[in-house]
Amino acid sequence: MKNYILFGPPGSGKGTQSDLMIEKFKLIHLATGNMLRAEIQQKSTLGMEAQAIINRGELVPDMIVNAMIEEKIKSNQQAAGFLFDGYPRTIIQAESLDNLLMKFHSTIQLVFSLVVPEEELVKRLLNRGLTSGRTDDNENIIKARINEYKEKTAAVGQYYQRKNKLIELDGTQTIEEVFSNILKNT
Ligand code: AP5
Ligand code: MG
Repeated sequence: MKNYILFGPPGSGKGTQSDLMIEKFKLIHLATGNMLRAEIQQKSTLGMEAQAIINRGELVPDMIVNAMIEEKIKSNQQAAGFLFDGYPRTIIQAESLDNLLMKFHSTIQLVFSLVVPEEELVKRLLNRGLTSGRTDDNENIIKARINEYKEKTAAVGQYYQRKNKLIELDGTQTIEEVFSNILKNT
C-alpha cells in the first residue's frame, strides 16, 4: 500500500493535484473537506455542526475527522493506497493517522507540501469563489482559514520533515509543472 499526503495552505492546489494523482496511481482520495461538505449537503447532525465551524474558517474537532478517516481506511483495506488531502491538519491528527496506518501494517510514503505565497492564495480562492458555491470562499473566511493554517497546521509540515518525509514543491508553477514535480518524487 502506498500512501501520500498533499499538504499546504488553503488554495495551494491540494484538490487540483489530488485529482491528477488518484487517476495516475489509482489511489483512494480521502479529502476531509469534501467529506464534511457531503455531510452538510445531507443535512446530517454532523454536517450541521461542521457547517458553523467551516463558516468561521476554523478547524473541525480532531475527534470528528479522525473518526471519518478511520472508517474510510477500515472499509477500503484492499486499496492500492490512500491519498490524503486536507488531512492531517493538526499534530493530533498526524499522530492518529500514524497509529491507524500502523494497525494496518502501513505508513505514509511521502508528504508533498505545496508552497504558495499568501497573496496568491487569497487571489486564487476569491477567484474560485466566483463559481465554487463554497460558502467559505469569501475574503473574511479566507483570512481566518489562512490564520488557522499558520497557527495549527504548519506544524504538521515540520512533523513530517522530522521524519524525512516532506517534499516541498513550488506551488506557483503551472498545474502541469507541479504535477510533473510530484511524479519525479514518486
Ligand atoms: P478543505 O476543503 O480542505 O479546504 P482548504 O484546505 O481550505 O483548501 P482548499 O480546498 O480551499 O484549497 P486546495 O489546496 O484544495 O486548492 P485547490 O486545488 O482547490 O477544508 C475546508 C474546511 O473544512 C476547513 O476550513 C475546516 O473547517 C474543515 N476541515 C477540512 N479538513 C479538516 C481537518 N482535517 N481537520 C479539521 N477541519 C477540517 O485550488 C484552489 C484554486 O486555485 C482553484 O481554483 C484551482 O483551480 C487553482 N489552482 C490550483 N493549482 C493552481 C496552479 N498551479 N496555478 C494556478 N491556479 C491553481
Ligand atoms: Mg481542497
